[in-house]
Amino acid sequence: MAKAKVMNPTLKLLLNRKSVRAYEDCELSREVKDAVITAALRAPTAGNMMLYSIIEVQDQSLKDALAETCDHQPFIAKAPFVLLFLADYQRWTDYFQASGVEALCAEQGVTMRKPQEGDLFLACCDALIAAQTAVIAAESLGLGSCYIGDIMEHYEEHKALFGLPQYTFPISLVCFGYPTPQQREREQPGRFSKRVVVFEDRYTRFEPERLEVLFRERQERVFGEREEVQGARNLGQLMYTRKFNAEFTHEMTRSVKAMLQAWLEE
Ligand SMILES: Cc1cc2nc3c(=O)[nH]c(=O)nc-3n(C[C@H](O)[C@H](O)[C@H](O)COP(=O)(O)O)c2cc1C
Repeated sequence: MAKAKVMNPTLKLLLNRKSVRAYEDCELSREVKDAVITAALRAPTAGNMMLYSIIEVQDQSLKDALAETCDHQPFIAKAPFVLLFLADYQRWTDYFQASGVEALCAEQGVTMRKPQEGDLFLACCDALIAAQTAVIAAESLGLGSCYIGDIMEHYEEHKALFGLPQYTFPISLVCFGYPTPQQREREQPGRFSKRVVVFEDRYTRFEPERLEVLFRERQERVFGEREEVQGARNLGQLMYTRKFNAEFTHEMTRSVKAMLQAWLEE
């Protein structure tokens, strides 16, 4: 756990959290699931509009499908509690329609505005803040969790699987379950030190020499004594190949572009 001078049970919980990818083979009670969802619904939300929806993925065949479409991660299929967080402007768009906004715009001689890129980003903020609130609520109940960013891939398939309308986008999937003893004991992964990430008043860009120093600890942790890992000679080369330029990243970009095109279609 990270060292801190100020401490209380909530901070302790936050500092102890780690992603959990293997779960005890036991059901969660409806009460526990509802407690997590109820907490998520109290998350801050832009304009109190709740620009998100949550789909509880219960059907095993849907979990099995997600385990494949989300970059082949089998643990998704084994998670006892899975929540899909959607950025959602559909509900408000439908309400605007139902409220005669089109007629109002016609009276005023203006075109009715449809959700655009900014609206999507705001809805993504809402959905992610609700997701993280669920993660922390779950943690407080002894549950582990793991985000699945790969849900942003295969937009068309996920749209069909969950019946998603135009102004929705699955921005995150979160798997929950009681951690196995092995997961409970697993060490927390390290983080960048504060000076890499937290600045005062102005953004700080680092020169190559400074970057080498700042990333050295991570590099040593991953490389150890090895001079090369998977053809990469340092952490930058490895992360570029393994993450930034990986096949799943290309699919994510394709998928997000397809979603944007659908979102912006008149
Ligand atoms: C947006 C986002 C997407 C993520 N996607 C995945 C994923 O697809 N699969 C996975 O196993 N972990 C995923 N994670 C979990 C991260 O790998 C994890 O948070 C990170 O390695 C730090 O570990 P920690 O959460 O245990 O501190 C994701 C986390 C975030 C925030």
